[in-house]
Amino acid sequence: MKVKRVQETKINSVDFENLVFGKTFTDHMFLCHFRDGKWQTPEIKPYQALTLDPSASVFHYGQAVFEGMKAYKDDNEKVWLFRPQENFKRINLSAKRLQIPEFSESYFFEGLNTILQLDQEWVRPGSGNSLYVRPFVFASQPSVQASASMEYTFMIICAPVKSYYSGGEINVLIAEEYSRAANGGVGYAKAAGNYAAQFYPTSEALKKGFQQIIWTDASTHEYLEEAGTMNIFFKIDGTLITSPTNDRILDGITRKSIITIAKHEGIPVEERPIKISELKEAHKNESLEEVFGTGTAVVVLPIHSFSHQETSYTLPKQTPLALKLKEKLVNIQYNASEDPFGWRQAVN
Ligand SMILES: Cc1ncc(COP(=O)(O)O)c(C=O)c1O
Repeated sequence: MKVKRVQETKINSVDFENLVFGKTFTDHMFLCHFRDGKWQTPEIKPYQALTLDPSASVFHYGQAVFEGMKAYKDDNEKVWLFRPQENFKRINLSAKRLQIPEFSESYFFEGLNTILQLDQEWVRPGSGNSLYVRPFVFASQPSVQASASMEYTFMIICAPVKSYYSGGEINVLIAEEYSRAANGGVGYAKAAGNYAAQFYPTSEALKKGFQQIIWTDASTHEYLEEAGTMNIFFKIDGTLITSPTNDRILDGITRKSIITIAKHEGIPVEERPIKISELKEAHKNESLEEVFGTGTAVVVLPIHSFSHQETSYTLPKQTPLALKLKEKLVNIQYNASEDPFGWRQAVN
């Protein structure tokens, strides 16, 4: 790997107390090109703008996938990743579905470790602070031919972040008209277009005062599936319920970690389809105790109300299980507790 360091860090110009999510980037970036049928020598260089031909395939056909992961710093200034192998597997799963060549494991981890070592000062210790790591691949061949590109660019960029939401109530709208993903589609992949397709319905929901949409199955709009960038859990009568993953739902790493921790804590967990009618019924008979989303950016996010067919349903203010599971998970991520599942990986 070729490494070119910055001459001078820009870290001193960053206000770490007032970071806007995903707007500030570290000093370096990782880059690797796919050409002539193979991935070329990867490089790390100062973070900078790219030059792309206007005909680059990604601009026209959206052939692009990405990942989202975080690096955490413990009280001894040691940097940790959380289940990075899962992100590596998932980006290649996404790539396969989008006809993008799979990326090499050794390049991925060498790139990740090197950039995190170079930019380790950007990982701030302390609760809520982390470095959001964004690996992504896009079709960079200069051609408007509507077929899979022959050239790709794989990159990793990193952004220091604080907690995703500043606090306050999270009210969600259950989707009745629009769909995020369909059977046989790309919903399970972190394909760029999945997110672009959500922006319009989500902005309409924001105008009505909701922070997120809960997506339902595209065929009937009867089953609760996932939120914008979160999987979703319901605690009904002491049992935690979440939809099973399928080809419409992203197999969230936080989701599977929360399921494991909950089971380890003796909490019954059911991965099964859950209908909106069941949720409303549980709300009516007061057995609906908590609703929360899970994802790398938010970790665990309690939801305060949901709305469906113009009716709003308020949830209990207290969400002890969400908070307990979040604390357990965060303590593992920040090396503040034992890691009984072997999820932490030191950056070395
Ligand atoms: C659509 C979608 N669902 C769920 C998640 C949560 O996945 P993870 O826990 O791996 O971040 C994300 C975020 O990555 C997402 O984009």
